[in-house]
Amino acid sequence: MKYSPEFSVQWLPFTVMVLSISITGTAAGRFDIPRLSPIGGAIIENSDLLSSAAVSDDFQTFYYPQTLDHFNYQPQSYATFQQRYVMNFKYWGGANRSAPIFAYLGAEGPLDGDLAVIGFLIDNAIRFNALLVYIEHRYYGKSIPFGSREEAFKNASTLGYFNSAQAIADYAEIIMHIKKKFNAFYSPVIVIGGSYGGMLASWLRLKYPHVALGALASSAPILYFDKLTPRGAYFSVVTKDFKEASETCYRTIRNSWSVIDKIASQPHGLAILSSKFKTCEPLKDSFELKDKLENMYAGAAQYNSPPTYPVTEVCRGIDGANEKQDILSKIFAGVVAYRGNRSCYINQPTNASETDVGWSWQTCSEMVIPIGIGKNTMFQTAPFDLNGFIQQCVSLYGVPPRPHWVTSYYGGHDIKLILQRFGSNIIFSNGLRDPYSRGGVLEHISESILAIHTVNGSHCLDILPERDSDPEWLVRQRETEVKIIKGWIAHYYADLKAILIKH
Ligand SMILES: *[C@@H]1O[C@H](CO)[C@@H](O)[C@H](O)[C@H]1NC(C)=O
Ligand SMILES: *[C@@H]1O[C@H](CO)[C@@H](O)[C@H](O)[C@H]1NC(C)=O
Ligand SMILES: *[C@@H]1O[C@H](CO)[C@@H](O)[C@H](O)[C@H]1NC(C)=O
Ligand SMILES: *[C@@H]1O[C@H](CO)[C@@H](O)[C@H](O)[C@H]1NC(C)=O
Ligand SMILES: *[C@@H]1O[C@H](CO)[C@@H](O)[C@H](O)[C@H]1NC(C)=O
Repeated sequence: MKYSPEFSVQWLPFTVMVLSISITGTAAGRFDIPRLSPIGGAIIENSDLLSSAAVSDDFQTFYYPQTLDHFNYQPQSYATFQQRYVMNFKYWGGANRSAPIFAYLGAEGPLDGDLAVIGFLIDNAIRFNALLVYIEHRYYGKSIPFGSREEAFKNASTLGYFNSAQAIADYAEIIMHIKKKFNAFYSPVIVIGGSYGGMLASWLRLKYPHVALGALASSAPILYFDKLTPRGAYFSVVTKDFKEASETCYRTIRNSWSVIDKIASQPHGLAILSSKFKTCEPLKDSFELKDKLENMYAGAAQYNSPPTYPVTEVCRGIDGANEKQDILSKIFAGVVAYRGNRSCYINQPTNASETDVGWSWQTCSEMVIPIGIGKNTMFQTAPFDLNGFIQQCVSLYGVPPRPHWVTSYYGGHDIKLILQRFGSNIIFSNGLRDPYSRGGVLEHISESILAIHTVNGSHCLDILPERDSDPEWLVRQRETEVKIIKGWIAHYYADLKAILIKH
């Protein structure tokens, strides 16, 4: 089981690349959009889990010659690239029985880490006699167009094919290919995804109902676009999580920012702060420190899962510090409690991960999730500055983002009104301690577009592997999801039988 608080720690580097940009913009606006991944890490990118003991021989890797551009017929669109997918046949009831297919839709990172960490498929394979398929998202891992990462990420001309509509079309093609290859025409397909991948799962079901019978969209903030969700929602949930864990911890954090500013403004102030926080490199400015701390708190809240509950860990450090210690020593004790004993903290040098690089393009083109920090949080306010964001994206990539495209293409406004008589078979699952849950679907839309949430759950918790230590509410959430999916499949088989008999 690879899920550990360490991932939440590794989540921090996401801002590394982006930081160099935001420095010029000062702390006035947020540039970095918190990452959307089932697990809080730059994930094990360097270790090839496919060949490790974590994933058994039952997983076989395949490649599909994928079309570069599904949406027009210019000659260059016909170029192909090798797209990786992985299958596990061990539990499959077979095509003759039209046994189900579970398809995990990769998100913004290489597929390798997901195989071990997305437990929902393997945990339920035997209950459904399901064939398991995991498909990697284009531009990540081994699924890189244009022959090399260097070429694919060269500029907006090659990056332009890197978007969600292409990715969903890729998934549809591969699923159809598999059904054909194994004569599994009548096998019902359930698509499963977490976070950004959860959005893709719900959208695939809506756009390609002939490909997927249903979708499990875990922690998918499909409503965190445009102004559908208040921009400050994310950080107000982070604040709430800390306040609920410990009122004194929350107050210490809230009061720490002005102390940092005050010390930073003194002569040698940055040197004092660097030494206080044992930074790996001298701080360039106070924003660097505040940004890293802010991201640490956000990561702890987003991935605040049992049994360790990272928010509780941070607060145990902060509250456990000697009462007589100054406020920044308390904050530092929180950092150490969370990150463990290290030789240095805050700004350890890291190379940008594939996710850092890929998600940066995705948020700068299509996935504009306008997260700012409003009043009444434990943070200093930092409104989302759309114009500033656009300018920064233009200077990075030469093309501006399209902040309204997601809601034009997939919808989102008045979602209940629109979907209650259109579409079916989608589970939107959430944990309300996850700050992204505020951009999720939290109310049932119809009899089969359902919102299943837990009060104390965190980001994508339901699709992580089952553990003996799982709390009762988590066990029940997963049972409910399984029961709903079984219902969809039973209905489908009844329909299938009725239609086959007629012919
Ligand atoms: C599936 O059905 C086909 C045709 O009826 C048959 O030839 C084949 O042996 C069956 N396969 C299995 C695994 O039962
Ligand atoms: C990207 O690079 C290629 C060749 O290096 C060039 O032809 C193309 O115009 C560039 N595109 C952009 C948007 O700069
Ligand atoms: C961290 O290191 C210090 C000194 O080496 C030690 O006293 C302390 O117990 C360590 N803490 C943890 C959590 O390992
Ligand atoms: C970054 O990558 C380079 C080249 O692969 C490597 O030599 C270096 O050790 C890496 N740095 C870190 C901090 O991982
Ligand atoms: C959620 O956690 C809080 C604090 O640990 C606890 O008091 C509450 O009963 C939990 N709620 C549910 C629904 O499990």
